[in-house]
Amino acid sequence: MADQTYDYDVLVIGAGPGGYVAAIRAAQLGLRTACVESRETLGGTCLNVGCIPSKAMLHASEYFDAAKNGAMAAMGIDVTPKLNLAKMHEQRKDAVEGLTKGVAFLFKKNKVDWLNGRATFEDAHTVSVEGKSYTAKNVVIATGSSVTPLPGVEIDQKVVVDSTGALELPKVPKKMVVIGGGVIGLELGSVWRRLGAEVTVVEFLDQLLPGMDMDVRKEAAKIFKKQGMTLKLGTKVTGVAVKGAKATLTLEPAKGGDAETLEADCVLVSIGRKPNTDGLGLEKIGLETNQRGQIETDHDFATKVDGVWAIGDVIPGPMLAHKAEDEGIAVAENIAGQTGIVNHDVIPSVVYTWPEIAGVGLTEEQAKEKGEVKTSKFPMLANSRAKTNHEPDGFVKVIADAKTDRVLGVWCIAAVAGTMIAEAAIAMEFGATSEDIAYTCHAHPTHSEAIKEAAMGVTGKPIHI
Ligand code: FAD
Ligand code: NAI
Repeated sequence: MADQTYDYDVLVIGAGPGGYVAAIRAAQLGLRTACVESRETLGGTCLNVGCIPSKAMLHASEYFDAAKNGAMAAMGIDVTPKLNLAKMHEQRKDAVEGLTKGVAFLFKKNKVDWLNGRATFEDAHTVSVEGKSYTAKNVVIATGSSVTPLPGVEIDQKVVVDSTGALELPKVPKKMVVIGGGVIGLELGSVWRRLGAEVTVVEFLDQLLPGMDMDVRKEAAKIFKKQGMTLKLGTKVTGVAVKGAKATLTLEPAKGGDAETLEADCVLVSIGRKPNTDGLGLEKIGLETNQRGQIETDHDFATKVDGVWAIGDVIPGPMLAHKAEDEGIAVAENIAGQTGIVNHDVIPSVVYTWPEIAGVGLTEEQAKEKGEVKTSKFPMLANSRAKTNHEPDGFVKVIADAKTDRVLGVWCIAAVAGTMIAEAAIAMEFGATSEDIAYTCHAHPTHSEAIKEAAMGVTGKPIHI
């Protein structure tokens, strides 16, 4: 299989969860593989400044909040927490260091060459890195994404921060304004609210969390308000003026009306992410991006340039680490002549707030556009484990095709929704009906029984409501 006319069989650009996984799988399949990464550490956005550090701060701040807000006292544990923010940051950095080094170890173990530097195409089979050229039979673009800037607003990482700055704040802001009520805004807004900041989320749309089921979006807004976040929905930020350590934001109703101002000592800009293609030299290989700046591929992750492939955040689809990873495995298998497939209809998404919010498949709104549906909702309040654990908020919703009963979507708000949703993804991957889930024995007492009960409600009746 190895073609000695090239330095490598596969050269991957970017060592995020898409790129590093593609490189490891390619090497496992016997291909001579290199991975170019410009950061000093491997793991991309996810391990360095994304999934992992944000979860480290979410996990730690969740304990702090439970101690502070009476959740521990309710279980007979009287504590008065004292925040050691420096230590909290230290454990975040430790998690990142351990995991990024883990990828470096896996590269060594699998004999993947890490080429440290920025990659630019010279032609479709030649990539230059720090002035040195490397040839490869196949090049995989896995360059990921970066923060979408808000026009006219400068991110100084002190008063006005992006997600990277918001992970590293040296002290708890008194007033924090989050621009964008999406995943990053709600996760990082939750971290600093729990640690003592007054948090206001300004969202352009009428509801938080675009793309999620409407019931979930509405319930999430209620829960975040109950937790003390101020939500300004249907509102856009039209300007941010920074003077010293303070920012003044100008807000306008999205549908027109009078402007208002808001003071903050920290502003988080989290209005989305954009694909990274600048400086890659795509013009040298005749590859154009689409209107959203993404690289288009076919079902096999091949671009229209022979020998050039693309995966992860830089191509269309949800910007999620597990989607990038699965595409990484599939592209390597396709390059090796195998059949690598990703089912883009069954990609779970999880918001790691308290409680967690998760979904897979179609929303009720999307499902109804395609045909007649049956839905069923089961409240977590009626789930014995959630009730015992003092976790009453949320529900599970199952959406099934009215004629075939096939499950089209599952949405949950629950303490461990991110873990629960895996069951729904497997069921959907195997083409399950709601009856299949309803008649599958679920361990008691678990939060997952709520999925079974919601499924029971689609065609019959749940037991516990
Ligand atoms: P990336 O991880 O962005 O990696 C691309 C890499 O390519 C980067 O390291 C970059 O330095 C490198 N690169 C770019 N251009 C070049 C070049 N020319 N030469 C060399 N190297 C280059 N997703 C989840 O699924 N779950 C989560 O909990 C989650 N939390 C997140 C929290 C935050 C704060 C953020 C910002 C994102 C989060 N995400 C999460 C999204 C997730 O991080 C991305 O979907 C994922 O990292 C995409 O993987 P990727 O491999 O496509 O790209
Ligand atoms: P997002 O797309 O999730 O949310 C951005 C929000 O900002 C939207 O609701 C949008 O309507 C709003 N918005 C846009 N312009 C605005 C303006 N001018 N004023 C007010 N609101 C405005 O993007 P976000 O949160 O930045 O996250 C980027 C990506 O990172 C996500 O799409 C997600 O894929 C990924 N991510 C995933 C996580 C997870 O899986 N748990 C965690 C964090 C990020």
